[in-house]
Amino acid sequence: MTQPRLHRLAQFLADLSALVEHTRDEAVILEHGAALLAGLVAHDDWLPDAQARPDPERYQQYLLHRDPDARFSVVSFVWGPGQATPVHDHTVWGLVGVLRGAELSQGYDRRGEALAAKGPVHRLEPGQVEAVSPRIGDIHRVANAFDDRTTISIHVYGADIGAVRRSTYDAEGRPKPFISGYADTPPPLLPVLAPSPRAFL
Ligand code: FE2
Repeated sequence: MTQPRLHRLAQFLADLSALVEHTRDEAVILEHGAALLAGLVAHDDWLPDAQARPDPERYQQYLLHRDPDARFSVVSFVWGPGQATPVHDHTVWGLVGVLRGAELSQGYDRRGEALAAKGPVHRLEPGQVEAVSPRIGDIHRVANAFDDRTTISIHVYGADIGAVRRSTYDAEGRPKPFISGYADTPPPLLPVLAPSPRAFL
C-alpha cells in the first residue's frame, strides 16, 4: 500500500474513546460502536501492511490499540486461506467488522452442558459489522470464507482482550481456558485526534 491513511484509525479511536467516556451502557456502546466501526471498515486504505500479514500456520492477531485504561482494545485479525477459530467465548462485549475478504460466523447457545448451533452460518462482507457479548450471545466460531485468499477483520473488545481469561469449547461443549496472544508486531504510531463533533449522538 502507498501511505496508509492512518488518520481514519486515529479518528475511530478518538470517537470510541469519547463513547466509552460518555457511557458504560453496553447496549449504547454496541449500537454506536458498531456505527463507528462500520465507518472505519467502509474504506480499505488505512491498515498498515505490517498489521495485514497472514501466517501460513495460524490466523494472526495484531494489536492496533489498547486503551490506556483498558476500557477497550482494537485488533486486526488476519486470516490465511481456510483458517478458522475454535468455538470460543469473549466474556466482554465485542464488535467485528470485515475490512477485506469475507468471514463466516456461526453462533452457539448453551444447552445444559452442551452447545447448540444458533441459527445458520452467516457471511460477513466488507463493511459489515456484528456484535457479541454475554448479554446478546457470546459463543461463536469464525472462519475465513475463502480458501484461496486472505481475509482481514477489525475486532473491538470491551477490555484488553490479551489479558482476558476466556474459553474455547470442544465438540462436546466442554470449556478449556485460554487467553489470546497478540502477534509480536507493535501497534502503529498514530496521531492523537479530537473526537468528531457529535461522534455518537
Ligand atoms: Fe470471537
